[in-house]
Amino acid sequence: MEIIISENPSEASAKAAEAVKMQILAKRSSVLGLATGGTVMGLYGKLAEMCGRGEVSFKKVSTFNLDEYVGMPASDPNSYRSFMKKHLFSKIDVDPSNTHIPDGCAENIRAYCVQYENKIRLCGGIDLQVLGIGSDGHIGFNEPSSSLGSRTRVKTLTEKTRADNSRFFGGDISKVPMHAVTMGIGTILDSREILLLAFGEGKAEAVARMAEGPVTATVPASALQLHPNVKVFLDEPAASKLVNKAYYKYVYANKP
Ligand code: F6R
Repeated sequence: MEIIISENPSEASAKAAEAVKMQILAKRSSVLGLATGGTVMGLYGKLAEMCGRGEVSFKKVSTFNLDEYVGMPASDPNSYRSFMKKHLFSKIDVDPSNTHIPDGCAENIRAYCVQYENKIRLCGGIDLQVLGIGSDGHIGFNEPSSSLGSRTRVKTLTEKTRADNSRFFGGDISKVPMHAVTMGIGTILDSREILLLAFGEGKAEAVARMAEGPVTATVPASALQLHPNVKVFLDEPAASKLVNKAYYKYVYANKP
C-alpha cells in the first residue's frame, strides 16, 4: 500500500487525477471503477478540467460504479446516477452507454447482481478502481462484517453510514435508504489497480485501521492490504493517526 500524504484535499485530488489520466493515456479503452460521495468530488472536478483542456479523453472509457441505494430510481436527485451525471459524466466526453451504475430498482435484485458482475467481466475487468472510505471502515457499501471474498449484492447500511450520508438528504437520517446494492470486497480486489482517497479528521481512525491494523472483516478497507497495487491519497488530518506517517512521507520523497 503506497500512502501519499498531501497538504490539502485539492493537492491530493490533483495527484489522484494524474494517476487516472496516466491509466487512460496508457489504455484508451480503460475500465474505471468509480465511487460517489463528498471525497471524490474534487477528483472528478480535476478530471473534467483535464478533459476540457484536451489532456485526456474518456471516449473509449467504460465505467462501473460501486453502488446504488436500493429502491432509488435513477431519476431521483439523490441517486448515484444523478450524482455521477452532475459531478462527472456531464462534464467529460464519455459515451453514456459505457457508464454502468447498479440499478437499485431491479426487479430480481439477486439475478441483477450476478449480471452486474458478468458485465464487468465481459468488459475485461476493472483496470483502475477509485474508492472513498466510510468512517466505519467501509469500502463501497461493504459494511463491517462483510465477507472479504464478497461479490456484488445487497447490504444493510450501518446507522453510522446513514448518519454520515444524511447530509445529502437535508440532514434527515430517516430519508437515507437502509439498503444498497454494492460491489463486494472480492469484486473490488479483482481490480488491477486501486486508488483510495480520504480527507479530514473524521476519516483518520478508519484510515489507520485500514493501513496499519490487522486484516479483518470488522474493517472492510483493511482487505486492501492483500492487494498488490493500492495508492492511498490523504490530506494531513486524515493521516493524523498513522503510526508510520513519517516513514510514508520519507518513502514518497525518495521514490526510486
Ligand atoms: C460511495 C461509496 C462509499 C463512499 C464512502 C465515503 O459510492 O462507495 O464507500 O466512498 O462512504 O463517502 P464520503 O466521500 O461522502 O465521505
